[in-house]
Amino acid sequence: MTEKRENWGSKLGLILAMAGNAVGLGNFWRYPYQAAKYGGGAFMVPYFAALLLLGIPLMFVEWNLGRYGGKYGHGTLGPMVYLQAREGLKPRSAAILGGLAGALALSVTVLLNSYYNHIIGWTLGYSYMSATGKYMDKSIDTAKFFFDTYLQNPTYVFVFWLLSVAVLAFAVIKGIQKGIETWAKFMMPTIYVFGIILIIRTLTLGAPVNPDWTPLKGLDFIWSPRWADLSWDAALAAAGQIFFTLSLGMGIICNYASYLKPEDDIVLSGMATVSLNELAEVILGGTIAIPIAYTFMGEAGLGQSIGLSFVALPNIFREMGGGQIFGTFWFLLLFFAGFTSAIAMYNYLVALLEEGIGIKRKTGTILVFALYFLFGLPVGLEAILTKVTTLTYFSEVDNWVGSYFLVTLGLIEVIAAGWLMRKKGLDEINKGGYWKVPKWFYVAFIQIITPVSIIILLVNSTISYAGKGYFKLIPDFIAETPDFIPWFIAARVVVISILVLGFIWTYKNIRKTYSEELKANKILVVK
Ligand code: ALA
Repeated sequence: MTEKRENWGSKLGLILAMAGNAVGLGNFWRYPYQAAKYGGGAFMVPYFAALLLLGIPLMFVEWNLGRYGGKYGHGTLGPMVYLQAREGLKPRSAAILGGLAGALALSVTVLLNSYYNHIIGWTLGYSYMSATGKYMDKSIDTAKFFFDTYLQNPTYVFVFWLLSVAVLAFAVIKGIQKGIETWAKFMMPTIYVFGIILIIRTLTLGAPVNPDWTPLKGLDFIWSPRWADLSWDAALAAAGQIFFTLSLGMGIICNYASYLKPEDDIVLSGMATVSLNELAEVILGGTIAIPIAYTFMGEAGLGQSIGLSFVALPNIFREMGGGQIFGTFWFLLLFFAGFTSAIAMYNYLVALLEEGIGIKRKTGTILVFALYFLFGLPVGLEAILTKVTTLTYFSEVDNWVGSYFLVTLGLIEVIAAGWLMRKKGLDEINKGGYWKVPKWFYVAFIQIITPVSIIILLVNSTISYAGKGYFKLIPDFIAETPDFIPWFIAARVVVISILVLGFIWTYKNIRKTYSEELKANKILVVK
């Protein structure tokens, strides 16, 4: 490694950066439309179950993996998993598990961010459009404005996307304390302030359109459990949302935790991350978009997916008093939230280059910019070239990377921490802790309930994917629209290639760093 590894400058900076890592577009853009799609209250039951059974235990596991790997100088998942897995497996087998983990984390940080950065670009574009009143004219159809005017206009798409990635690069290049921590200290409190202002405005909207459509009725839609509506699909979506929103199964919580000192607390800090994220998601995310849409359009307003934020809300902002300013706050809030998560994925890749080929942070940051440009191109170009906004490439990449891969990686991590570390696992988690994880929790959750729940989830997701024909080379729903087949195939080729390359890269690096140990096939390096 060419540069000394940094540490976090302060506890507050660490907590805000970690919360920023988790609080993202998932909280404000993805969560409301998932909750609306799966029946509101019916979604909340599996959502909270997934938070308890998967989210909290995995958060401890990831902080622990990261801090443990950081002690050995690693900021990326392959060697981190290797180091824990070798406690229960022979090093050569552990290196294979590490290789798989590294491959999945690379796929997520490159490919999830290839579209995540675009959405951040849209939110920046829409902050500008709101502030300048571009969609305020009531004769404008906001759906057409988003899908045709915006997504098919190369100037809008490329300027706001590349500007966002350039600002991200500017933040990452400065490093952990001067870059990531500084930006989190500004952006995270701003998100909560904007969120509270928007909630106050939402709750005082009254019933401007229909006496039955009020913000409180909108809240009731989310909070009243409707047991009869519970479905397996809602449970899968809820578990996927927990992974996505807490940034689990991505490698990025582990990467931030690798900048901890070996005796820094992780249990209380991990709980603080979960709490700040859930506050932002369930309270802020749940009390803005859905009640606003409900107040102006009733349940019909909740029928949109990604359009809830970019189509339904702009339509409403121009109807409500002060809409231009509240619209600007909403899109800036989305931008800040997305930014503080994307920065973590960006930093992961810089760490991968620093460790893998020994280059400096500055060069690494520039290389990752080029990488993001390359992998983001098909996402940005599809709507522009095809003049249709089905976003096939984006959807297919998201379909694998945005849920399936996260859950698979979560399983590998919890197996390493819970099964392969054995007794050492609990001691490691509790080292330096202000709070300690009790033994019963470790055994019941980290060793049994969490891995078993993930296995059940993966088996059922696989069955559900197979049922929808996803394992066919060309699924029926794509065969019906031949124009999109090339985009669909391209997405699959890219996902598989990154996975294979990620495995080779990670495995080779583990072999290079731990060559003696792998030759002897027993643990030699201990810190
Ligand atoms: N956790 C991040 C989000 O919610 C990735 O968007």
